[in-house]
Amino acid sequence: MSWPSANGMRIGLTFDDVLLVPKRSELLSRKKVDLRTKLSRRIELNVPLISANMDTVTESAMAISMARLGGIGIIHRFMSIQQQVSEVSKVKRSEGILIEQPVTISPEMGVSAARDAMRKHEIGGILVTAQDNTVLGIVTRRDIFLEDEMDETSETDNVTKVKDIMTRDLITAPPGTSITEAKTILKKNKVEKLPIVDGVGRVVGLITSKDIVKMRDFPHASKDAKGRLRVGAAIGVKDDSIERARALSDSGVDVLVVDIAHGHSDLAIGTVTKIRDQLGEVELIAGNVATAEGTRDLIEAGVDGVKVGVGAGSICITRIITGAGVPQLTAIMDCAVGASDSGLPIIADGGIRNSGDLVKALAAGASTVMVGGILAGTDESPGITVLRPNGRYKMSRGMASLGAALDRSTKENRFLDEGEVLEYVPEGVEGLVPYKGRSQEVVSRLVGGLRSGMSYSGARTLEELRKNVSFIGITTAGQVEGRSHDVQPFEQ
Ligand code: XMP
Repeated sequence: MSWPSANGMRIGLTFDDVLLVPKRSELLSRKKVDLRTKLSRRIELNVPLISANMDTVTESAMAISMARLGGIGIIHRFMSIQQQVSEVSKVKRSEGILIEQPVTISPEMGVSAARDAMRKHEIGGILVTAQDNTVLGIVTRRDIFLEDEMDETSETDNVTKVKDIMTRDLITAPPGTSITEAKTILKKNKVEKLPIVDGVGRVVGLITSKDIVKMRDFPHASKDAKGRLRVGAAIGVKDDSIERARALSDSGVDVLVVDIAHGHSDLAIGTVTKIRDQLGEVELIAGNVATAEGTRDLIEAGVDGVKVGVGAGSICITRIITGAGVPQLTAIMDCAVGASDSGLPIIADGGIRNSGDLVKALAAGASTVMVGGILAGTDESPGITVLRPNGRYKMSRGMASLGAALDRSTKENRFLDEGEVLEYVPEGVEGLVPYKGRSQEVVSRLVGGLRSGMSYSGARTLEELRKNVSFIGITTAGQVEGRSHDVQPFEQ
């Protein structure tokens, strides 16, 4: 592509500056389009979508939803290491062919401890085991509910023990039981949980009917080798970054994302090098960069994927505050060139407002796309829904906004004084976004548009989209023509 220029300078382009020229398509159905792609060197996704590591976008609920739909979520880092590990564990435990270390409880514990554990792990039943892990029974929400119903003083919480209310006669299966066999056993015995127990009665795993149903409902889910949902987690470049990376890696996280506003910096490159040295083969993405050189430098430092985008996000004001950045379409194209020799994928991060932007980002050279604001108003994003006279809203904020910085310092018990607040120069804003319902609906509209977009380029795969694409630059008049006109639309 020959670049437009003025005064000897290249002119950077973004999504609204171009369209994809339609091409002959052999596709008989949009459904035939294959969306498989690479997230990083060793991880494949079935859908090229990633939820952003922002505190108004991705914690475990969003990560579970994204992975079920074939993408992945990156848990943000603005919480303690312990909390972030717990968010990763929630995703890892949420479903799997075989839950390897099911939550267990001692028979001597009180009912309230069982209730708390079920709430904490968001599960409906806990295996009761002896100290040597021999299975003794199971206690379920139903057992606790019945106990609560019988009890008028609610003092039984302290008096009644798990062993008093647990179900003792358990149906179990031996290690190596297949999913088909498990299904038959669960169905025949009308039970929902099947503990896998070794020859001496010790629990070595758990298969649940809920997980089997989810496998049917979400056939394209992103899963690891053990059948657990995939999840990523962000880390920074501060003192605790290696400790955080190690704890997350130990908790089974699939990919770490070194996340810093200016990823083409010695700080980012140094952190990548340290992680490689100290954690070895962990899957590692870093960013954000906006140039081919930035991409090459991160790859040379040892990353498995590069995140691209400086100042394109819905809540970003980096370009206004610092005067730095590259319009996102140009940034993606340049970084794709920077990554081409290595064969590693790049992630287009920020600025996606609709499925058309998504198609353009992928056609320009990105293997996956990270979205923030578009998911911020959904049920699975953290935060409450607020009611305003004209509708329901949720919060979205830049991680470099003043509100996010104040919250972080409060969480770290480090209260900023007035001078520090005045000195802080936010590069992000915070505000309300319309409530959008379930993230699944947002993702399915994006994916539907992507499939159609690919068929306009005659592409059956994302690789074909990248190879086949012809962009055409458009004028402001062309942009206006592309919007609905001469009608008062019910819905934008
Ligand atoms: P969207 O457009 O999907 O973009 O909401 C999400 C991406 O925006 C970046 N981000 C920021 N950029 N200041 C910035 O300049 C900020 O405060 C900020 N917070 C998030 C980030 O790359 C995210 O994935």
